[in-house]
This record gives sequence, C-alpha cells and structure tokens, in this order.
Amino acid sequence: MKIIFLPDNISVDAEVGEPLLEVAERAGVTIPTGCLMGSCHACEVELDNGQIICACIAAIPPGKTEITINLSIDIDW
Ligand code: FES
Repeated sequence: MKIIFLPDNISVDAEVGEPLLEVAERAGVTIPTGCLMGSCHACEVELDNGQIICACIAAIPPGKTEITINLSIDIDW
C-alpha cells in the first residue's frame, strides 16, 4: 500500500505489518524517537483519521490502500 508522509508529501510503498519507523526511514523521513517502547510519546504522529499514535510501536495496518501520516504535530521550533 501507499504511505504518504505530510507535510512534505513524500510517498513510499509499504507492506502490511511493516514497522512504521522502518517505512519512514526508507522514505527518508525522520520521526523523532526516544524510548522506542511506546511510553515517552516523542514519536507521536497523526493518522488521516485524526488518531494520534506512537510511531515506534506502530505497524502498517491491513485493509487499506493508502495511509496519510502527518508529522507536523512534531513541530521542532
Ligand atoms: S519513542 Fe517513546 S513512545 Fe515512541
């Protein structure tokens, strides 16, 4: 399926079950991380349905052909 990373609109192909951080890395997108265990929330991203998830413990879900992942909630001032 196709994964689109906002705000830069970078798209990459991914398989169901692939860890989100690996997909992002392949796309050349950096998601900030900390604990990598789902507890510090440094890696939070927003899905197209508005759901906020921790990227470090997320994998590509089945049943979709395209997912948009918004990184812009991680504003790095
Ligand atoms: S890196 Fe800490 S919750 Fe993901």
